[in-house]
Amino acid sequence: MDQSERQMDQSELFELYEELRAYVGWDNSDADRLAALKPLLEPAFHDIIEDFYDEVARHPKAVRVITGGEKQIARLKQTLQGWLKDLFSGPYDKEFVERRFRVGQRHVEIQLDQFFANVAMSRIRGRLLDALAQHTPDSFEDRDAAIRSLNRILDLDMAIIDIAYQREFSAREQRQKRLATLGRVSGGIAHELRNPLNAVKTSVYYLLNAKNASPEKTREHLQRIDRQVAISDNVITALSRFARLPVPILRPVNLCDLVDQALDANPLPENIELVRDPSDSFPLVVGDQEQLVIVLGNLIRNACDAMPDGGRLTLTCREIEPEVDSGPARFSLSVTDTGCGITAEVLPQIMEPLFSTKTRGLGLGLAVAQAIVKRHDAELSVSSEPGRGTTFTMTLNIVEDPA
Ligand code: HEM
Repeated sequence: MDQSERQMDQSELFELYEELRAYVGWDNSDADRLAALKPLLEPAFHDIIEDFYDEVARHPKAVRVITGGEKQIARLKQTLQGWLKDLFSGPYDKEFVERRFRVGQRHVEIQLDQFFANVAMSRIRGRLLDALAQHTPDSFEDRDAAIRSLNRILDLDMAIIDIAYQREFSAREQRQKRLATLGRVSGGIAHELRNPLNAVKTSVYYLLNAKNASPEKTREHLQRIDRQVAISDNVITALSRFARLPVPILRPVNLCDLVDQALDANPLPENIELVRDPSDSFPLVVGDQEQLVIVLGNLIRNACDAMPDGGRLTLTCREIEPEVDSGPARFSLSVTDTGCGITAEVLPQIMEPLFSTKTRGLGLGLAVAQAIVKRHDAELSVSSEPGRGTTFTMTLNIVEDPA
């Protein structure tokens, strides 16, 4: 994490703390009450700290995080003393929140189970409330209010420790996701390149070892190598295109031309019937024609792949009423097939890079489509009924004033 990210993180943390403070009803009088309590409760800190570590010692699963023996415990007692003093004196500013967050982070680092942090806090709270009952004179102004202030600051501290744990869990989850993606990427690339490379290897072996190979045979093998190299090259092009999608150049695009161009580049197999609804008079939308052709082409190819035994492909254009009066006018272009459909289980994953249900292909088509559509301030959605078919809908902005 660099300096600016760290600063942003600290500000976010403080904002969150302020929100939580408002939630528990914290105000300046809480800080005043805690400051007034401090001299009264401080004499009890020593016993509270001893009790804290006596209890830790009774729980092997808690004590296992203390790896430095008596010396470390002596140091920990000092830190807990500092933590208690800080609790009553504040000021409850950004630095305070940072220090309290650090405690949570340290516990995450040493792998203290979160529930031990919680019950340990409960123990400290109990001992502090006992001390408050014993050490505050009857004349102490509004004891109930003091108890509320103490509970508030301890609850806020616990929330901060929880946040540290939660952040660590989500960071861990992201790391795992990244690793899983890396695994899929490597597996996908390996799978796609292994076949052509094997074919090249076989031909090279033939060319190196064949005795008296005829010129025709030699040519046949060289052509085979050439074809397989082209296949490998396509895989690499698809990957690098995905990694470096150019910024779209937005211009008015005629939807009718777009559909024609995508169909030209992706001719339908004979067993698939095409329905265009309506067949003409599409409006002008805002987009990068070249990139939108890629999106539509990917959707058409997917639809065809879903209907290996034939079916019907319907391209539907509809104007969408803006949700608010001033909202931009939008147009939807749907690609519907009558194929095998996608199960509800698989549906949320289909736009993820390198997710594929096909035996061949890198699984980049829909991820590329999604990435392009996002850069158009447009949307791509999908609905499917297993056994009946799937509809992909791209929603684009209409050119406001085509003149
Ligand atoms: C809510 C209750 C707890 C509080 C307020 C607390 C307080 C602290 C503080 C202030 C630190 C120093 C953080 C820093 O390095 O800046 C710390 C670290 C630590 N805490 Fe806790 N703690 C709590 C619960 C526990 C429990 C239940 C254990 C169980 C053994 C534990 C074990 C440790 C250990 C091993 C360290 C690392 C110390 C080092 O750096 O050597 N803590 N804790």
